[in-house]
Amino acid sequence: MFYNFKIIGKVVIYNYIRRYTTFNEYWKIPWKRKNFGRYSIVQPGLIKKEPSFPQHITVPSYYTTTLPDPSPAEPEIKTSEQINKMRRSCILARQILECVKSYVQVGRTTEELNELVWNLCIENNAYPSPLNYRGFPKSVCTSVNNVACHGIPDDRPLQDGDIINVDVTVYLNSHHGDCSETFLVGDVDSEGCRLVKTTQLCLNNAIANCRPGVEFSTIGFVVEETARQNGFTVVPAFTGHGIGSYFHGPPDIYHCYNDYPGKMASGMTFTIEPVLAQGSQEIVILEDGWTAVTLDNGRTAQFEHTVLITESGVEVLTI
Ligand code: MF3
Ligand code: CO
Ligand code: CO
Repeated sequence: MFYNFKIIGKVVIYNYIRRYTTFNEYWKIPWKRKNFGRYSIVQPGLIKKEPSFPQHITVPSYYTTTLPDPSPAEPEIKTSEQINKMRRSCILARQILECVKSYVQVGRTTEELNELVWNLCIENNAYPSPLNYRGFPKSVCTSVNNVACHGIPDDRPLQDGDIINVDVTVYLNSHHGDCSETFLVGDVDSEGCRLVKTTQLCLNNAIANCRPGVEFSTIGFVVEETARQNGFTVVPAFTGHGIGSYFHGPPDIYHCYNDYPGKMASGMTFTIEPVLAQGSQEIVILEDGWTAVTLDNGRTAQFEHTVLITESGVEVLTI
């Protein structure tokens, strides 16, 4: 999920044409000029309009309105019935992500990955949650190299050396399941591999610390410590979120150092989804209103799980 006006997250809407001038200005400053490795800087391509969604599958209300229904005001404690529904949607999200993983290869366009997600959702009587969510035009987010988050599938073919995050969320039996991974395409340079590995480690370390009574802010501490130890930064603009019959709700899960109050309790379901960057943590939203790119063109990686807090600890639902 995106937005964070409470913390640092510097978010600027740039006109895509003007972005060049701005980037050139940025790169004139000698100490900001940095070589982050061997990869291509992504430019947004052509987006194909999605067909209308089949009528026999239950869609969330935002499919027609683009605006989600209000989520609860406080973190929700799920009943066992709700938890079972979460389990099913999370398992499906994982299965679809695994299918995409085996489909990722040089030459494949992100549009083709989107079509796979679309078809698999329909086959399983599920709805691809991103579609029309606050106006998002496609069924999955695909974020390549310097795209930090919310990349829109388009006609760009994957290139040897790319890293791509695929973020799959499905709406099944009126509940959302949300997970993402960053995949390596062909031969990725060593810094790219290290960035991806470290990001996955951040997520795993965060999960290892989850249990009833633990502060949510522990997640931010653990993720930022792990990132810094490996020479990477945390992008603060993207947070994890409570999830259920709503796509995004309380609690907000910050992945950077913070002292916001709030403790985990048995029955809560939320996501953890850190984005790590090679260089600057500053991001820019392009004029499509979604694509978040790094200001310094460095690469980012992201991993996401939906978790359930249990009496004895934590259960990863999207495993
Ligand atoms: N799946 C993303 C998340 O982890 C949200 C995507 S919102 C969309 O929160 F509209 F871009 F799909
Ligand atoms: Co999420
Ligand atoms: Co997600």
